Amino acid sequence: MTIFIINGPNLDMLGLREPEIYGSDTLESINTELTDYCASVGVRPEFFQSNSEGELIDIIHSARGKADGIVLNAGAYTHYSYAIRDAISAVELPCVEVHLSNVHKREEFRHKSVLSAVCTGVICGFGKKVYRLAIDALNL
Ligand code: DQA
Repeated sequence: MTIFIINGPNLDMLGLREPEIYGSDTLESINTELTDYCASVGVRPEFFQSNSEGELIDIIHSARGKADGIVLNAGAYTHYSYAIRDAISAVELPCVEVHLSNVHKREEFRHKSVLSAVCTGVICGFGKKVYRLAIDALNL
């Protein structure tokens, strides 16, 4: 099984960005750990990160025919990007929405996701473990 693991805006700043909220691991180190984890459970991961909405949409489109599922941390786009929502619907692949932080414990604007309704499920609040949990959920 091939899984696209897609991170959106500002997640390239992990490790430096508000470590009390997002942890001290960099995205590179998280992806390295996930590569090992995926190997141990027979999953082929493909990693992407972009700060741009259009590029994220292109990446989601490219999953069609290549991936069996998507793990998506869309960052702040989660809360208002109808374009990303439509891209998820368009590709008709199982998609797990993830957030490192528990968005429901934070500012009001983070309580709403415009993506959740077109995702298979949502995992948030467990730090970097959310990626592993989402891979397990897709790999059942
Ligand atoms: C986030 C939560 C979002 O509200 C925020 O804009 C992010 C990261 C998370 O992983 O906790 O960039 O998706």
